[in-house]
Amino acid sequence: MLELQNITKTFTTGEAVTPIKNIDLKIEKGKITTISGESGTGKSTLLMIIGGLLKPTEGKVLVQDKDIWSLNDEEISNLRSKTYGYLFQSSVMIKALTIAENIEFAAKVSGREISQSEIEELLDIIGIKDKKNSLPHTLSGGQRRRAMLAINHARDPEIIIADEPTNDLDKHWKEKTLEFFKHWRDMGKTIILASHDPEVEALGEIKYKIVDSELKLK
Ligand SMILES: Nc1ncnc2c1ncn2[C@@H]1O[C@H](COP(=O)(O)OP(=O)(O)O)[C@@H](O)[C@H]1O
Ligand SMILES: [Mg+2]
Repeated sequence: MLELQNITKTFTTGEAVTPIKNIDLKIEKGKITTISGESGTGKSTLLMIIGGLLKPTEGKVLVQDKDIWSLNDEEISNLRSKTYGYLFQSSVMIKALTIAENIEFAAKVSGREISQSEIEELLDIIGIKDKKNSLPHTLSGGQRRRAMLAINHARDPEIIIADEPTNDLDKHWKEKTLEFFKHWRDMGKTIILASHDPEVEALGEIKYKIVDSELKLK
């Protein structure tokens, strides 16, 4: 359902770097795949390519047998808003909407409805019920990360991609976050996690590591 064919990414801003070179990868549906590697080895770059957010210099990204970069703008934005869920450090909420409204809006964009009681239940699970009517900028980094969990849960995408999902989280919220991934996997979702955190990696059913711009099975 998700396949990379001979992917290379070279950044040419400043001195040219090629963190990802000739990578072939088939992501297994309904499983948790982890990507580890030292800082700066290309985990985030690879995740963004897998997620159709960054265009590779060479190679193809196939999602449901379609080549992402041959789709038109509408098809690609549909893919991003309906098929994929993203948890990135830079993931943004809508500034002018409250946390509850952001969750509601995210569900709507994905073609789903979510009730107020479901929103409250989700906010309770992620421990920010008191932030229901607050704007995103009033949340801490860790709270924002947890809010993104709720947003992705409300959107219910087939494929969930997360970059260093446990950064800024204490032990308790780290465990809760990992529970979300397990729960999504149990619901048949395809999960791809990039992290240097051994506890995140331990969730992986298929584990890769980036070494010298190549992807190795661990
Ligand atoms: N937009 C960019 N422009 C130029 N270089 C980049 C860009 N994004 C990442 N890089 C470089 O690519 C390499 C891999 O970065 P990244 O994918 O962020 O690694 P990781 O997530 O494993 O820490 C690094 O050398 C980084 O400096
Ligand atoms: Mg990174």
